[in-house]
Amino acid sequence: MRISSYLAVALLEASAALAAPSLEATRVEARTSKHASKRPHHPVAPKHCGRPFPSSPDRKKVCYVNSHGHGKDDSDYILKAIKDCNNGGHVVFSEDTKYTIGTALDLTFLKHIDLDIQGTIQFTNDTDYWQANAFKQIFQNATTFFQLGGTDVNVYGGGTIDGNGQVWYDLYAKDIYTLRPILFGTIGLHGGVISDLKLRYSPQYYNFVANSTDVVFSNIDIAGASVSTNIAKNTDGWDTYRSSNIVIQNSNINNGDDCVSFKPNSTQIVVQNLVCNGSHGISVGSLGQYIGQVDIVKDIYVYNISMSNASDGARIKVWPGISSALSGDLQGGGGSGAVSNITYDTMSIANVDYAIEITQCYGQKNLTLCNQFPSNLTISDVSMRNFKGVTSTKFDPIVGYLVCSSPTVCSNINLENIDIVSPSGTNLYTCGSIEGIENEVNCTTVNKGGN
Ligand SMILES: *[C@@H]1O[C@H](CO)[C@@H](O)[C@H](O)[C@H]1NC(C)=O
Ligand SMILES: *[C@@H]1O[C@H](CO)[C@@H](O)[C@H](O)[C@H]1NC(C)=O
Ligand SMILES: *[C@@H]1O[C@H](CO)[C@@H](O)[C@H](O)[C@H]1NC(C)=O
Ligand SMILES: *[C@@H]1O[C@H](CO)[C@@H](O)[C@H](O)[C@H]1NC(C)=O
Ligand SMILES: *[C@@H]1O[C@H](CO)[C@@H](O)[C@H](O)[C@H]1NC(C)=O
Ligand SMILES: *[C@@H]1O[C@H](CO)[C@@H](O)[C@H](O)[C@H]1NC(C)=O
Ligand SMILES: *[C@@H]1O[C@H](CO)[C@@H](O)[C@H](O)[C@H]1NC(C)=O
Ligand SMILES: *[C@@H]1O[C@H](CO)[C@@H](O)[C@H](O)[C@H]1NC(C)=O
Ligand SMILES: *[C@@H]1O[C@H](CO)[C@@H](O)[C@H](O)[C@H]1NC(C)=O
Ligand SMILES: *[C@@H]1O[C@H](CO)[C@@H](O)[C@H](O)[C@H]1NC(C)=O
Ligand SMILES: *[C@@H]1O[C@H](CO)[C@@H](O)[C@H](O)[C@H]1NC(C)=O
Repeated sequence: MRISSYLAVALLEASAALAAPSLEATRVEARTSKHASKRPHHPVAPKHCGRPFPSSPDRKKVCYVNSHGHGKDDSDYILKAIKDCNNGGHVVFSEDTKYTIGTALDLTFLKHIDLDIQGTIQFTNDTDYWQANAFKQIFQNATTFFQLGGTDVNVYGGGTIDGNGQVWYDLYAKDIYTLRPILFGTIGLHGGVISDLKLRYSPQYYNFVANSTDVVFSNIDIAGASVSTNIAKNTDGWDTYRSSNIVIQNSNINNGDDCVSFKPNSTQIVVQNLVCNGSHGISVGSLGQYIGQVDIVKDIYVYNISMSNASDGARIKVWPGISSALSGDLQGGGGSGAVSNITYDTMSIANVDYAIEITQCYGQKNLTLCNQFPSNLTISDVSMRNFKGVTSTKFDPIVGYLVCSSPTVCSNINLENIDIVSPSGTNLYTCGSIEGIENEVNCTTVNKGGN
């Protein structure tokens, strides 16, 4: 193996490598490709989950990741540097260097480590390899290029992670069962800050956060679109699953599906100061898709969101008590659980189809049937307040959709200070089976539920 001759593992004194250098020194270092970034500070603000985050001690060692170049798989170098610097070190992916990953990396063993991504990491476009080897995450056939987990991990550096998505967008258009990897898998991470990164061209979701606690995402820039006629589908910004005490803040998202989506068992989550463009909104769900499963989403605070060119602003989507099929790879209904204590506070919208959408009839277009089989998943204590802006022409004169499957399974849904109009100036909502909703917004039709 030639690994050791290629890999420069620099052991530096913590004081020399990580202490704040003088301004002059910073400038000089920035010109050379090998330097460790100072760990950024991203305070959680202005809202909090109500639970403190663990502290992260300084790192005492630096490891630089070498690269083979020419698009050759750098996984060997990456794994070596991470293993060398695990338990208290700082791994640097150098500026002006392009790293290629062509091997599924299981990074769930991380402990007290910083990954400083200054350069670009790109995943190979070997779709056969990735479909066979990407990590299966069980939920909705999700797979990830890598899985990052463990305890106390910080990722930053201002660099780019590129999923090389075009080949996947084109393949998916031919076969909806193509297993498109998620770009960034945060799986079983307990304590960490992931910040200052550009995420590009994900084959599917950009982030999947599962089995994780106490993780902050801050200053993440998401973009990437298809250049062919096959659009980049299911490119959610973040999906959270079986996770709690998660913050997603101060980020820019340009994508083609949910900006952020709270999947089953997402609790104590704050999402704030996001600019979302081209998405499907900030969504709870979909939930209740699988019979026999209990889905819980609670204690969510969504604050200060700018939403444009989207299908939805705030959305809660729950399947009814009877199953139905949307398409071959998306079908369900009949699952149980609860959505509770959800707040959407301060959202400005522009060119959004529905400013607010609450549905307990997801996947079931026949509302009579939906009312006949009320959802086994209750929705309660929902507050939506301080919304403003203009919707798109799509459903004009309607600006929102508020339909439960029965008033008995939806309670305490409050809309307050909602200043949303359609391009023609109306402010009408489709309402159904939500007690008292007609006192909060102007409903076109009021379906009280039942038969
Ligand atoms: C895969 O990537 C390589 C290197 O970037 C490129 O030359 C090739 O055209 C790509 N193949 C496909 C099918 O996109
Ligand atoms: C999460 O943890 C559970 C229980 O250990 C495990 O079965 C599951 O595969 C893990 N990953 C995901 C994505 O749920
Ligand atoms: C998962 O994949 C299988 C086989 O490709 C398919 O039958 C199933 O509908 C998929 N499930 C989801 C939730 O996409
Ligand atoms: C979600 O939480 C509920 C209640 O604790 C539990 O019954 C269910 O199995 C969990 N679901 C998943 C996917 O972990
Ligand atoms: C709201 O978010 C925007 C970024 O979209 C930010 O500039 C602004 O300071 C935030 N406002 C508050 C009150 O946090
Ligand atoms: C927002 O998305 C639209 C496509 O929906 C795109 O044309 C536009 O450039 C995006 N705006 C920004 C600021 O990126
Ligand atoms: C509701 O959720 C918010 C945000 O996570 C939390 O601060 C608050 O304590 C929760 N309220 C209750 C009654 O649990
Ligand atoms: C919305 O999309 C249009 C193009 O479709 C674009 O010109 C505009 O900048 C987008 N709005 C924002 C806020 O990005
Ligand atoms: C909707 O469901 C009801 C009840 O099963 C049925 O009578 C009706 O024909 C259905 N409507 C449509 C359009 O399928
Ligand atoms: C789910 O709801 C349906 C109809 O609303 C009902 O027939 C069924 O028994 C419920 N299932 C569970 C597990 O609660
Ligand atoms: C209904 O619309 C009228 C006219 O725009 C407005 O004055 C009123 O506040 C609306 N009602 C509710 C409950 O929002």
